[in-house]
Amino acid sequence: MDANRFDVLIVGAGAAGMMCALTAAQRGRSVLLLDHSSKLAEKIRISGGGRCNFTNLNSRPENFLSQNPHFCRSALARFTPQHFIAMLERHGIGYHEKTLGQLFCDDGSEAIIAMLKSECDAAGVRWCMPCGVEKIERDDEFVVTASHGKYRAESLVIATGGLSIPKIGATPFGYKLAEQFGVPMTRLKPGLVPLTFHPEEWAAYAELSGASLDAVVSFGKHSFRENLLFTHRGLSGPAILQISSYWEQGMPLSIDLLPDLDAHEMFLQQRGSKMLLGNFLAQYLPKRLAEIIAVQWLENKPLNQYAEKELRTLADKLKKWQIIPSGTMGYGKAEVTCGGVDTRALSSKTMECNNVPGLYFVGEVMDVTGQLGGYNFQWAWASGYAAGQAA
Ligand code: FDA
Repeated sequence: MDANRFDVLIVGAGAAGMMCALTAAQRGRSVLLLDHSSKLAEKIRISGGGRCNFTNLNSRPENFLSQNPHFCRSALARFTPQHFIAMLERHGIGYHEKTLGQLFCDDGSEAIIAMLKSECDAAGVRWCMPCGVEKIERDDEFVVTASHGKYRAESLVIATGGLSIPKIGATPFGYKLAEQFGVPMTRLKPGLVPLTFHPEEWAAYAELSGASLDAVVSFGKHSFRENLLFTHRGLSGPAILQISSYWEQGMPLSIDLLPDLDAHEMFLQQRGSKMLLGNFLAQYLPKRLAEIIAVQWLENKPLNQYAEKELRTLADKLKKWQIIPSGTMGYGKAEVTCGGVDTRALSSKTMECNNVPGLYFVGEVMDVTGQLGGYNFQWAWASGYAAGQAA
């Protein structure tokens, strides 16, 4: 038997690659898992602030963005959060639920990496890392020329993830390979990323850096009510990260700074008051933000000195603050890459390319992007499992 020949060769030993490897190896397939990094699964390690938000109990197709929104249904239905939880429990790994169904490890993300590694080892997966891929060709099988040698495999699985955080090993490898084999791509952009504003437009708000509040941020038909954080360069926090994946360059976002309040009614009741606008708003907003709004949006006067129309306009703006970001903080700060390998060219059951038998794409490299809250790992597990069952 040729020692360099495998049934399945997987490029990328991250979340989706390891899940695919252990699933295929448990079926008795010979599997080689290859990664160019010297550290295993760095993204799992840094995820969720070091505690890995590894799934979301409420994972539904609606939590994912894709040009082909129904594609993810089949894989998500066949590998659910409960399947992953069962694996954690078999390994005695503690976890807890935070808000909105988000599950985190009790003792840090390393536990998940160790669990996946030991499942791969137990099933006989062979490792090759750090190992760069130089060339991939195809005759009757895939021929992978790598820094450690030449390998042949019947099935090739690409699990190289997206472009976010290049300093821990993200590369466009998967997209280039798709191009090489004529597999179409959708447009790429950073997702789950802080938004920026032109410095001169943001000058008034930059000093708010660190202030946060509960807000509803909307773009088109998408709205998220979560924390919003002011930064030196723009806006961040979960509400902004969520909407950033939907936001399109040049378009305005709408922000409701007083989600539980009827702002018109609030001002109407206080029209005769001598309280300064800034002090009044500080009852409902962070003090520094209240002051800036009072000074920048109007001038800071006692409430009884404003015309009714002025307060009505202010109330409207507090409920629908329209702002146009100049851009995002880019892949260096983005949690994910939106877009990727066009799923219309893949089987939703197996993740195999319709026109290139034996070639599979799994995880973030595909045009399936989860919202914030554990959905991206759930997609990595589910798509890795689906391909591991077939490759
Ligand atoms: P992943 O990026 O995990 O793995 C890709 C692998 O391919 C890497 O090991 C890389 O070294 C390797 N590779 C790349 N190019 C290669 C090449 N040319 N040759 C060989 N190997 C190559 N999601 C979530 O659900 N919950 C969370 O808590 C978080 N938190 C989070 C925090 C931060 C800071 C980031 C950046 C991201 C998250 N995410 C997240 C997103 C989540 O980490 C991401 O979606 C998954 O890791 C994607 O899994 P993949 O296996 O597809 O790619």
